Amino acid sequence: MNRAVESFLNTDPAAQAHSGARVGVPRAHESAHLHVAGAAPYVDDIPEVAGTLHAALGLSPVAHGKLRGIDLDKLRSQPGVVAVLTAADIPGSNDCGAIVHDEPILAVGEVQFLGQPVFAIIATERELARRAAALARQVLDIEPLPPVLTAREGHAKGQYVVPPAHLVRGDARAAIAAAPHRLQDRFVLGGQEQFYLEGQISYAVPQEDGCLKVHCSTQHPSEMQHVVAHMLGKQKHHVQVECRRMGGGFGGKESQSAIFASVASLAAFKLGRPVKLRPDRDDDFMITGRRHAFEFDVDVGFDDEGRLLGVEVEMLTNAGWSADLSAAVMGRALCHFDNAYWLPDVAMHGYCARTNTQSNTAFRGFGGPQGAFAIEHVIDTVARRLGRDPLEVRRANFYGVGERDVTPYEQKVEGNVIEPLVADLEASSGYQARRAEIAAWNAQSPVLKRGIALTPVKFGISFNVQHLNQAGALVHLYTDGSALVNHGGTEMGQGLNTKVAQVVAHELGLSFDRIRVTATDTFKVVNTSATAASTGSDLNGKAAQDAARQIRERLAAFAAGKHGGAADEVRFVHDHVEVNGRRVPIEELLVEAYLARVQLWSDGFYATPGLHWDSKNMKGRPFYYFAYGAAVSEVVVDTLTGETKLLRGDLLHDVGKSLNPALDLGQVEGAYIQGMGWLTMEELVWHPKTGALLTHAPSTYKIPTANDAPPVFNARLFDNTNVADSIHRSKAVGEPPLLLGFSVWHAIRDAVSSIGGHRFDPPLRAPATAEAVLDAVEAVQAAAAQACAPSVDAAEAVEAK
Ligand code: MTE
Ligand code: MOS
Repeated sequence: MNRAVESFLNTDPAAQAHSGARVGVPRAHESAHLHVAGAAPYVDDIPEVAGTLHAALGLSPVAHGKLRGIDLDKLRSQPGVVAVLTAADIPGSNDCGAIVHDEPILAVGEVQFLGQPVFAIIATERELARRAAALARQVLDIEPLPPVLTAREGHAKGQYVVPPAHLVRGDARAAIAAAPHRLQDRFVLGGQEQFYLEGQISYAVPQEDGCLKVHCSTQHPSEMQHVVAHMLGKQKHHVQVECRRMGGGFGGKESQSAIFASVASLAAFKLGRPVKLRPDRDDDFMITGRRHAFEFDVDVGFDDEGRLLGVEVEMLTNAGWSADLSAAVMGRALCHFDNAYWLPDVAMHGYCARTNTQSNTAFRGFGGPQGAFAIEHVIDTVARRLGRDPLEVRRANFYGVGERDVTPYEQKVEGNVIEPLVADLEASSGYQARRAEIAAWNAQSPVLKRGIALTPVKFGISFNVQHLNQAGALVHLYTDGSALVNHGGTEMGQGLNTKVAQVVAHELGLSFDRIRVTATDTFKVVNTSATAASTGSDLNGKAAQDAARQIRERLAAFAAGKHGGAADEVRFVHDHVEVNGRRVPIEELLVEAYLARVQLWSDGFYATPGLHWDSKNMKGRPFYYFAYGAAVSEVVVDTLTGETKLLRGDLLHDVGKSLNPALDLGQVEGAYIQGMGWLTMEELVWHPKTGALLTHAPSTYKIPTANDAPPVFNARLFDNTNVADSIHRSKAVGEPPLLLGFSVWHAIRDAVSSIGGHRFDPPLRAPATAEAVLDAVEAVQAAAAQACAPSVDAAEAVEAK
């Protein structure tokens, strides 16, 4: 932890409250005291209304097939079952597709993946609903059809959820052909389960006059409202969706909370009773999608310094059975392939294959990490081919300042701090000295090998879709000087409500205990965007600031009118109003203002300026600004077992002028560990014939634990400001630091590479599980052994492995 943060958190709360600063201070999470006491209610903690029923989903036991019939009588006769619902019960539109309308809520005609919801059981108890739903295999009459289970298969059949996307600048092929060196490579990158601690859940409660209230763990209440209203053939004003907080979303509750919201709402509507749907973890895994796995084919031309002169890359992903957000995920992957590097001539092609597996979706970074991983892989390999330190090659390719500064999608890279940031981290982490020490250590350690890597991050902030970059807020000021704030963003643990409260406290000069942020509610702020793309505090912070400013200006005018002086010289500090040499407690002024009939509440609105995007040609200014960062990781690898251990992590991340350094450091550390988990231990396995997801619980799917955090862990915020006029010049922090985890994977590759004296490319897969590491170790050992025999080409030996 930063020393400044530590000392602040250790000071007594009264002193904190009097420090005056409301933004830029490491204030604890608004719900921290509730989180630690188990007193922060999540959807499943809301006291159940009398008569509440419970839903469970009956899932397709096959990956693809014709749905011939369902033995409904058998299901209806099960103990506790009150109703069985199928697609035929949906009065409106049977669709919860977020963008493309290709996603039936309950299957009709065909089943498209193993795990697809086909029917819903509504029972008196959750356990009874689950028991009946588990009879799916017996009651479903399905004629099997051949499934397509991999991206390659879908690609070969030309079967995509959206048309292929191309982002091209210059003439990559000519540049590659003319370059002194060439690299052609193919590599794979696994997917990742969001593994939110609180699973998906919705609780729908009928209200008067045909209205519904849906408590839903979702990043996108407005979308849930839309889907439910559409499904029921109702107007949006009939459907209220509320979310006080989520126990994590990580992108998994952006679109894919819809199936649960829909089914709970359908049942509540049909039966006129409250209905809760909380799938267990295994069903959550089987039903919902996750981070897209990618496969890359790259063709690269480079010079003696490792400068990339021409690059052509084909990105192939398994989108799953429906489009969901895959097109946007691929768009972000293509827009992040450049990462921190200037690419003069480049051609990128993105394919989203349709298959018979879960529909993949948003996950922290939203394709950005996948795209950037590819170029980091390329650079690492280029460095080895040239016998150079990868950091040197990275530097040779960094975006410049005032030159070499235009992205492939033609946005100028402004506020570029990648050079100074990397130099700072290189020094503070002792990168150069440690690289030398590690080489010496490895020379005398035959079994254990250490590795180190520094990887940079540049991440674009804004939704690629222009209209999503808007937000609204309501600020209510009571006459006692307490404020109630509501905005369109959702709280998932990231601290959005805390930051928005700080912004309002700052505008009105109020202490933190006077501000309360309330649940996100589609009956308050409407037509909201998902809390996603890391834009939560950028958008909602600005909207809340707008609302608070309007109140302040009205109050200032009133105060000046009453006490004299100029309105624009009135100050709001420490719960007081300073006007014309007088210092009035805010509640005193508020009572006077109320009696004088001054409006003490306001709405606020914000739309990010200056964005434009030609989605067809993939050119424009999709991002308001960029966030930067870098990480150095050091690992040790056991070359006999393939086990790895992260020894040390040094992180330096740019959040502009931090709104809250404690929350930001938490995001930076958490994202790094989550990125590491993705690339080193979280492995997804589907049965190659049936398409069943075999890793569908914590018993088989491993996420990092506290023990996986490095024993030496230094995370710092880079001293910076935002060149864009963002909220108090801060920068979004939710997703970008996930890419810091790249350095762990590269450190492992570096350790494996040391076995062959860094002469052979370790064919290391991601995630670098023990099995994958061992395969790479053996391949490098084989290549090194064969290299002694003069007739065999070592590179070919690695390739063959
Ligand atoms: N942090 C926590 N604790 N829990 C989460 O679910 N989601 C991440 C990130 N950080 C997440 C999180 C993702 S995917 C995004 S897009 C951002 O938070 C969303 O919130 P923000 O825009 O307010 O940063
Ligand atoms: Mo985050 S993947 O944009 O929800």
